[in-house]
Amino acid sequence: MAVQDKLSAEELKQYYNSADEVRLGPGWVGREHEKPPELEPYMWRWSDVEPLVLKSGDVVTPDRDVERRIMRLATPGLERGTTHTMVAALQLLLPGETAPSHRHTPTAIRWILKGEGAYTTVEGDKCWMEPGDLILTPSWTWHDHTNEGNQPMIWLDGLDVPLVGYLKANFYEQFPEDTQPVNGTGDSIKKFASGTLRPTWEQPDLAYSPLLHYKWDKTYEALQNLAELGSDPFDDVAMEYSDPTTGGPVLRTMTCWVQLIRPGVRTKAHRHTSSKIYQVFKGEGYSVINGQRFDWTEGDFLVVPSWAWHEHAAADGKEAILFSIQDTPIMKSMALYREEPYVEHGGNQPVTSRFSVGTPV
Ligand SMILES: [Fe+2]
Ligand SMILES: [Fe+2]
Repeated sequence: MAVQDKLSAEELKQYYNSADEVRLGPGWVGREHEKPPELEPYMWRWSDVEPLVLKSGDVVTPDRDVERRIMRLATPGLERGTTHTMVAALQLLLPGETAPSHRHTPTAIRWILKGEGAYTTVEGDKCWMEPGDLILTPSWTWHDHTNEGNQPMIWLDGLDVPLVGYLKANFYEQFPEDTQPVNGTGDSIKKFASGTLRPTWEQPDLAYSPLLHYKWDKTYEALQNLAELGSDPFDDVAMEYSDPTTGGPVLRTMTCWVQLIRPGVRTKAHRHTSSKIYQVFKGEGYSVINGQRFDWTEGDFLVVPSWAWHEHAAADGKEAILFSIQDTPIMKSMALYREEPYVEHGGNQPVTSRFSVGTPV
């Protein structure tokens, strides 16, 4: 920086003080726009998470005060959120409980992990939840959850709360009753799940996918079919859940992926300006993020922040399935999406350290 010597140190200090008094800040100090993203990756083990989530059943009940019994994945270094734009949390709903109906401008997804006999109602459509199902509750849609089964239900909530909070667009409303009226069961599936056919009398003009519920059996079948054909060098057999009316991402702020890493495959490394939160739905393996190796197994959660080098590998003899939420649609809509491959060492990062829970990252 070209520093002039016209002012003495004392005069310079007075200049900055005078500017500060009238709320003026020098643009040549700090220079935020030149700094690369600085967030750390992190991982949570299912064996640590599950007992504490189950125990949360003894701590609170999802009534009108508590609303939701959730435990957030709290990445070190972030005041809130799991990445700077998204938050992921584990929700527990016990037999006989209802998490009361409400709506909010932040968008949410549910990725179902464990249990049966519970449903989420979204805008009057009752969606029975099974492990591996993806359910959307887009911005400002009414939603409530009820467990009519006899076992605890656990799912992953993914929301764009940090982004919406930053944009000062948070609105929230409770439904007058605990549950909203139900108009149908699985109606969005009946109308839109084929992906290629839709009712002639429905011309959805929504800011999100009119298909609200993506069933696991169809998802897994699609992955297996694709595995016969090809793969991506950075993500192996990866599929994006899509809006059947546009072919684009299911939501405006977040997209959801599911990927199958074939047994023994190690992908190439790359980095991009979108951040990702993964759940290891099946299998075991590891990811290398900025040179650090994260060994994961079924049920674990992993966060890959913006612009971190990352690659994934499945253990020999066993396929791995990773579900993820990503903020890619935001970055693309603002022309801020950037991606690059790792070209040294044949495309794979040297492993310089290993992650373990509880040690500083
Ligand atoms: Fe909600
Ligand atoms: Fe990636």
